[in-house]
Amino acid sequence: MADLRISVAGLDFKSPVLPASSPAVGTGDRLAAVAKNGAGGLVTHTISLLPAPNPPTPVKIRGGMLHLPTWSRYPIGRWVSEFLPQARAAADIAGIPLVVSVGFNAEEVDQVVPKVVPFADGLELSSQFLRPGGGAMSDAAAVIREVASRHGNPIAKDPTPLRDAVQAAKGAFSGPVLVKLPPMGPEIADVARAAEAAGADGIVATHSFGPVMTIDIERARPSFASDDGHAWIGGTAIRALALRNVFDIARAVGIPVIGAGGVASAADAVEFLMSGASAVQIATEASTRGPEFYGSLARKLDKWLVSHDYAGVRDVVGLGVRNWQRLEPHTHTIPLIYDPSECIGCTLCELSCHYHAIWMEGEKAVFDPNLCFGCGLCAVRCPTDALVMPVALASEG
Ligand SMILES: Cc1cc2nc3c(=O)[nH]c(=O)nc-3n(C[C@H](O)[C@H](O)[C@H](O)COP(=O)(O)O)c2cc1C
Ligand code: SF4
Ligand code: SF4
Repeated sequence: MADLRISVAGLDFKSPVLPASSPAVGTGDRLAAVAKNGAGGLVTHTISLLPAPNPPTPVKIRGGMLHLPTWSRYPIGRWVSEFLPQARAAADIAGIPLVVSVGFNAEEVDQVVPKVVPFADGLELSSQFLRPGGGAMSDAAAVIREVASRHGNPIAKDPTPLRDAVQAAKGAFSGPVLVKLPPMGPEIADVARAAEAAGADGIVATHSFGPVMTIDIERARPSFASDDGHAWIGGTAIRALALRNVFDIARAVGIPVIGAGGVASAADAVEFLMSGASAVQIATEASTRGPEFYGSLARKLDKWLVSHDYAGVRDVVGLGVRNWQRLEPHTHTIPLIYDPSECIGCTLCELSCHYHAIWMEGEKAVFDPNLCFGCGLCAVRCPTDALVMPVALASEG
């Protein structure tokens, strides 16, 4: 067995497989089911000052789920009297930390955090509904309308509301405060640095991505029944975007990063860990597969680590980042590597090559490295490892 335990900002998770904030962890019962079914730690649905109005029903599409990522529709009083005590008890039985997700502006954090502190080992500060200019919300539906209609995230330009919210959380809670960020362009590195400077103990990346839109062609209308047809998407469609955000943040800050966005398999989790995440969170895939998904993924991750001779999770965290530092930029042609003994004669490489560098002779492909342009198309299509693109690693030291 591999050692799945990982400590993130002082939170000792049993494994790096955690729930992401969503309705799947939106009541005490659901949190207890997630703990019982083998999650490495608990994270709650986001609690804010006012309950969120009911969002449109999520819609499953290829590559993910369309939704409006609001926050809990249950009032904070119900969380404090019922859900959080249940979650605390379940976390204690399972021996795992409980992270309470809170939002959003400093004024809301000031009022919410003292109420949840007695139950929390850590806080996660959601930034999805941060509004410039501060102030506590008085109309939850208006906040959602305002945020849903904007493109881009204002904290990418001015992180002041984020900084204020982090400082408010740190002022009211002595444990670790994780800051959760939406997916962004390369400016996410600066936003993460601002969160770190304000006192954040870790970064979670990322929220779901939006606004997006898809069409239900049978009904000939947008798939998601929101006011403007816009939706947010979580699931495998956003994994590469979330991975790039994690990779950029991990190189920019000295605090740990937790990855979220499209984790559906052990290999996906490993990708996040190698990109610099110390743990992963999952919402969409677990919403469709149920709370058993967490324990099952942790077991598969264990098998993957053992089969690849890693002693534990810690061995792979940041491995891809460290190896990236040794990568030579691919600015020149590198002919691919061809092993005829692996060729099964499928002809796909001949069909792929625009440079006539590879062609069929009988049942085998024949390759001329002098004609090869190193585009990699044939290697992508080759069903065996007969064709492999070499990765240029600079010599160490
Ligand atoms: C239905 C739904 C509701 C969500 N609500 C919240 C929320 O209240 N707070 C939050 O920080 N993230 C929320 N998220 C975002 C997820 O926590 C997660 O960051 C995102 O979906 C990417 O992970 P995934 O691809 O595993 O779904 C929500 C996601 C979904 C699908
Ligand atoms: S794609 Fe691969 S297996 Fe198929 S013919 Fe070319 S080298 Fe052989
Ligand atoms: S890498 Fe590109 S140029 Fe080289 S053989 Fe394959 S398809 Fe042709």
